[in-house]
Amino acid sequence: MALNAHEFMSTMEKRIAFTGEDKTLLKENADWGKEIASEMADHFYDYLGRDAEMSAIINAKEGRIHRLRETFVQWFYEMFTGMDEWGNAYADRRWRIGLVHVQIGIGPQHVVPAMAIVVNAVGQKLKASGKDEALRDALGRICMIDLAFIEQAYVEVSSAAVLKETGWTEGLFRRLIATGANSM
Ligand code: HEM
Repeated sequence: MALNAHEFMSTMEKRIAFTGEDKTLLKENADWGKEIASEMADHFYDYLGRDAEMSAIINAKEGRIHRLRETFVQWFYEMFTGMDEWGNAYADRRWRIGLVHVQIGIGPQHVVPAMAIVVNAVGQKLKASGKDEALRDALGRICMIDLAFIEQAYVEVSSAAVLKETGWTEGLFRRLIATGANSM
């Protein structure tokens, strides 16, 4: 069940309809993205800080919140630059971000609302800055691709761990999941 991050990236691009026009628009607005990244980080960490469980995670270690702010700003900017035209380096980086969150025990219930906060905050900022709606759509699409990476990492890592521990085949595992879902 090991995920090929590069293939996953191109599948997501097609599935989410992230186009060449979206990429051009994002690159043209990369400086603006850099300018607002810190403000977006404020929204993001204020939001996480208001949730008791998420606040405990982000403040669990000395200096973590500071480090997180920096990584968020970098992550946000990379959505605009695409790093290597949203290629293999971009996919590897997104996969790595997914794995980091799985290691810390951050699941879909945390990540989905957090990404919604980013989409919402950037949407409001776009409006206030008089930016085109097409830019909002492009950003929404790349945010969804990034979200898909983090979510998929969760599934891939949990499945791989179960398979390794039990020695089950992938087919058996899938059947057990389907049976489990049926009985709920
Ligand atoms: C939109 C969703 C999110 C994005 C884009 C995001 C982005 C990132 C990035 C770029 C990193 C650095 C990864 C690395 O070291 O390679 C990171 C690490 C981390 N994130 Fe997130 N994150 C998201 C959601 C969350 C949520 C919901 C939480 C908490 C509940 C969280 C807590 C953490 C923690 C604790 C780390 C590790 C920090 C450390 O180095 O100690 N993240 N995140």
